[in-house]
Amino acid sequence: MNKKWWKESVVYQIYPRSFNDSNGDGIGDLRGIIEKLDYLKELGIDVIWLSPVYKSPNDDNGYDISDYQNIMDEFGSMEDFDEMLSEAHKRGMKIMMDLVVNHSSDEHKWFVESKKSRDNKYRDYYIWKPGKDGKEPTNWESFFSGSTWKYDKNTDEYYLHLFSKKQPDLNWENPKLRRAVYDMMDWWLSKGVDGFRMDVINFISKDQAYLDGEVHKGKKYGDGAKYCMNGPRVHEFLQEMNREVLSKYDIMTVGETPGVNPEIAKKYVGENRNELNMVFQFEHMDLGSGPNGKWSDLPWKLTELKAIMSKWQKGLEGDGWNSLYWNNHDQPRVVSRFGNDKEYRVKSAKMLATCLHMMQGTPYIYQGEEIGMTNVAFDSIEEYKDIETLNMYNEAVNEQGKDHEEVMKGIYGRGRDNARTPVQWDDSENAGFTTGKPWINVNSNYKEINCKKALEDKNSIFHYYKKLIDIRKNNDIVVYGRYDLILDDHEKIYAYTRTLEDEKLLVICNFSEQTSEFKLPEDITYNSKKLVISNYEVDDCNIEEFTLKPYEARVYNFKK
Ligand code: NOJ
Repeated sequence: MNKKWWKESVVYQIYPRSFNDSNGDGIGDLRGIIEKLDYLKELGIDVIWLSPVYKSPNDDNGYDISDYQNIMDEFGSMEDFDEMLSEAHKRGMKIMMDLVVNHSSDEHKWFVESKKSRDNKYRDYYIWKPGKDGKEPTNWESFFSGSTWKYDKNTDEYYLHLFSKKQPDLNWENPKLRRAVYDMMDWWLSKGVDGFRMDVINFISKDQAYLDGEVHKGKKYGDGAKYCMNGPRVHEFLQEMNREVLSKYDIMTVGETPGVNPEIAKKYVGENRNELNMVFQFEHMDLGSGPNGKWSDLPWKLTELKAIMSKWQKGLEGDGWNSLYWNNHDQPRVVSRFGNDKEYRVKSAKMLATCLHMMQGTPYIYQGEEIGMTNVAFDSIEEYKDIETLNMYNEAVNEQGKDHEEVMKGIYGRGRDNARTPVQWDDSENAGFTTGKPWINVNSNYKEINCKKALEDKNSIFHYYKKLIDIRKNNDIVVYGRYDLILDDHEKIYAYTRTLEDEKLLVICNFSEQTSEFKLPEDITYNSKKLVISNYEVDDCNIEEFTLKPYEARVYNFKK
């Protein structure tokens, strides 16, 4: 297998708005990040993925960019950015930028121009269409509720926005737009940034027919996904981007790609494709989705999770590379979702970390995950800030008359603000995140769950993550070993092996709050065994057959 630094790295995602506020305005900032670089170094991560820090009116917290080459006022200045980059590099950590180029903000100068007239020279930087029979050009539904089209009276046309009205889609069919994007990327790379996480990058090529999508039962709008995701020219565009920019630097790239399976993913990340290093797939995140998408928040089964993870581990084996994640700024907290955030919070957070970090791929840790931060349940909808959540609530409750409690249940389970409450640094007011009023309320459990406490307690989740990272660093098998699922149908235990030459890792995780009986399959043999890590004290017992405690995780190393 081709060895690469980004295969051997562990990434930590910072959502700057909620990370650390240095100036008391209630909003995290770049100087706040600089203050915490030593904390990240202590954890042992290699790369920071920085969610967008560019100028933005913050309709979608920075995922709506109005100037790609300037820093958002609330976050600081370009000097602060340069200092942060150089301080990170000094400590041996890299910075991967978020690249949001499926759309910009409607306040970007390109769009301001584009709107002015049909013959403006920036008109074709965006996707404008005439109405159809006095209605929107297609029936597609936006990811943030409502139509994907907004009518502009001035030029009597509609523009496309797959996300909010303030996030118009860029027109990748236009070579001038593509050139402008590549130049901007090049500008950041020549500054010394170490890569890009590319926001919904598999949406950039749209099917030019602009056909109506299927209207699913109970829906007002049609589903345009198949005309926008993995579109006809997406690989051509990414290969061009690779040729023009990416290939000139030793960097890391990860594409956010909803709606891919391993077959499709290989086209983006296959070793000889010259596109991206890895993608974020969503199949495990979609567990429990139902008629109302993720908001249905239905029960899920461990056997389904195992099947999905294993499909990806085997699907990209030898060609392509996985990104491994349980969490990000769009997902609920994993300990609340797949673990137990009450009685077994610490045990289950460690178990989940073990399960993920021993797989093949590059692991991503989302801020606060390393201390087992949990979901939040604010009393009133007014406390929520996320545009996706608020638009959905408004449509469901105010337009469709759905029950408030029912809708809140979905938000508690799956809303994006679960991940966006401020990082809990200590037990002082506002969890030490800010001396001002935080832009979003702090989770009330910060006195119990915080970084200060975690650092002081050698049995904490933080120290466990640190150990997992260290194990990866010192054992090639964790990075490059082959993955094989065992006990496929077991409903409580997720167990697998990793194999590299004559060495094997055996990873055993109990996903249940009950005890579970483990039985080692007979074809797994060894001459010597060693316990690598565990979340309970383990006696050197017979591992051919034993009882796992609630949420217990163990990793053994076998030698022939
Ligand atoms: C995916 C990002 O992760 C999410 O936060 C954002 O709202 C959408 N893309 C639109 O940029």
